[in-house]
Amino acid sequence: MISRQLAGVFAHLDEAENAGIARLCEWLAIPSISTDPAYRVECKRAAQWAADHLRASGLSVEVLPTGQPEGAGHPIVTATSAGDAAYKGPHVLFYGHYDVQPVDPVELWESPPFEPVIREAPAGAGARGGAGVGGGGGGAGRRIVARGAVDDKGQVMTFLESLRAWRQVSGSVAGGVRFTVMLEGEEESGSVNLERFVRAHRGLLKDCDVCVISDTNMLGRGRPAITYGVRGLAYTEVTLHGPNQDLHSGLWGGRTLNPNAELVKVLSELWDKELRVTIPGFYDQVRPLTEAERAAWAGLSTDSAGALRQIGLPPEADRGEAGFSAVEREWGRPTAEINGIYGGYTGAGAKTVIPSHATAKVSFRLVADQSPALVRDAFFEWLRARTPPGFRWEFQDHGTGPGVTVPTDSVHLRVARAALLAATGKEPALIKSGGSIPVAGLLKAELGIDTVFMGFGLDDDRVHSPNEKFEIECYRTGVRAHAALIDALRSL
Ligand code: BES
Ligand code: MN
Ligand code: MN
Repeated sequence: MISRQLAGVFAHLDEAENAGIARLCEWLAIPSISTDPAYRVECKRAAQWAADHLRASGLSVEVLPTGQPEGAGHPIVTATSAGDAAYKGPHVLFYGHYDVQPVDPVELWESPPFEPVIREAPAGAGARGGAGVGGGGGGAGRRIVARGAVDDKGQVMTFLESLRAWRQVSGSVAGGVRFTVMLEGEEESGSVNLERFVRAHRGLLKDCDVCVISDTNMLGRGRPAITYGVRGLAYTEVTLHGPNQDLHSGLWGGRTLNPNAELVKVLSELWDKELRVTIPGFYDQVRPLTEAERAAWAGLSTDSAGALRQIGLPPEADRGEAGFSAVEREWGRPTAEINGIYGGYTGAGAKTVIPSHATAKVSFRLVADQSPALVRDAFFEWLRARTPPGFRWEFQDHGTGPGVTVPTDSVHLRVARAALLAATGKEPALIKSGGSIPVAGLLKAELGIDTVFMGFGLDDDRVHSPNEKFEIECYRTGVRAHAALIDALRSL
């Protein structure tokens, strides 16, 4: 049973749905691409837009500079609601990000990425049902298509709209719940200024009891979920330097080694035949999966063949570390990836050349309890031991963050589960995610705060890709879940 007041908020949300989506579309129209300096002003506008929305819901809002020198980074929006005098629940930190990924390849978008459109489900999508690891019936539905639709503006918006609705219905800011809100503008570019910010604003954050983030997925359509862990990340760029200039491959081929070839040879040794990472010590700190966890995940009826089909691959492409299922590999095991590799001539046509150097962007997805710094250092050491004669390596660190796994028996997780049940009528699944959200590890390390990941995306939302979407039904689940979370917190 849901409270009378929550029923009132739900009714209000239903009425306000179109207006809420229109507001979201306004926000989505601001191209806040954090990694590209050309969009600096747009990032500021997107921050300002969120600040205005929060202010209109009665919170005390600031747009704070980040970086060194101050203002070098994109601003962080903070907002607080004091909570009613009678409020006894936890002080909740809500984190989200207003920045988005670049749009390329832009020619593959069916509509311009920053001109949000509401589109009906594509013909035939329904028959195939849910997508991916999170398969599940229901079929694809109406969606908002734009860069940032699901990652993360659309999901943040579900929280913002629930604040607005509670204010309107109850008269109390945030329904009387004590919130601190932090909206970052650099999540998609590695959260490079976040650690310094968190340290500098300890006072603002240290009283928070728990963090809530809506930046993950559900198990599938109509299958709400709480994510109790995300993987960590160590991202590097390595360059193998050979001759001090590009060479004619006819005159020099056979006389010296080729950096492209040597780089590829070394990197191919990163995995053994069982697709285990070969760096010594790589698995030393890995927290083993428990049998209980493996059984629980196996019971979630995920559909890895369906997920592969969605990306144009047959079932036999289900490959990864030996001895683990697809879902175990995504949620519970670390990996090494080559994100990009380049060197020499990559333009049109043929050019005969031995390049002076070759580069690869190599990253590692990490699980509890691996230390990103140790993995990075071990990788660099491993490369050093494989330096081709007369060549040298150049190493760059593009940032690291640990994986996070939170207890599944906390009062906070219980409240979130109750909220999802009230919002959807379904008991949420407990899942993990292979993606990374740097702030969670930081909050744990700096302030001892655990995170509840309550996300509303779907596996086929095309995050970071052309035609990113957020389905209206997922948006609806999100606003209702946040409204119900507020209700549950009030009655603690
Ligand atoms: N929201 C995503 C992570 C995510 C997506 C988690 C879907 C679970 C389900 C986040 O914005 C993201 O893209 N993170 C990056 C890390 C960052 C350091 C660039 C990632 O996971 O690659
Ligand atoms: Mn995100
Ligand atoms: Mn992202």
